[in-house]
Amino acid sequence: RDAAVAQVQGLIRDIPDFPKPGIIFKDITPLLGDAEGFKTAVDLLAQDLQGPVTEYIVGTESRGFIFGAALAYRIGAGFIPVRKPGKLPSDVYACEYQLEYGTDALEVHRDALGQGARTLIVDDLLATGGTARATGDLLRRLGAEMLGYSFIIELGFLNAREHMTDAPVHSLIQY
Ligand code: PRP
Ligand code: MG
Repeated sequence: RDAAVAQVQGLIRDIPDFPKPGIIFKDITPLLGDAEGFKTAVDLLAQDLQGPVTEYIVGTESRGFIFGAALAYRIGAGFIPVRKPGKLPSDVYACEYQLEYGTDALEVHRDALGQGARTLIVDDLLATGGTARATGDLLRRLGAEMLGYSFIIELGFLNAREHMTDAPVHSLIQY
């Protein structure tokens, strides 16, 4: 497993001063473009699943779609998109969350999954946790059973997981 994680980590590139001076952006595009690396990353997410069978993967627009949909296919689960406002055509629940400046929102279809559906949230990155917490809020309103949160990368120094006590938080790579 350590070699597989190292392979994935080796395909994540640091981009200094993006999107703003002083920020080091973790660029996953080399990982996505590497057939073996991408497969390894998704396989690792699948291997780390524990407990009851995951019926649904929820992926948050947009980078959460990439890993979330691949993992759903890999484990034979349904895929539920959580989207930026105004994209989903039927009735939605919406959740606002804080950005560094201002707020944004995420939406999910009200009929996306049934009460008690066993569901895992997947995204590429856990930074402040605002995105993940908003996604978790939406799942609670749907009545889903939250099995956990799973990320490729966790920026541990931001301590997001301290505020995510509703379900287990898992990440492949920590900085
Ligand atoms: C990035 C990343 C996570 C989120 C993590 O998404 O893909 O979803 O930020 O940050 P947080 O923990 O501080 O909320 P972004 O909103 O940049 O959009 P994208 O996925 O469409 O690129
Ligand atoms: Mg995102």
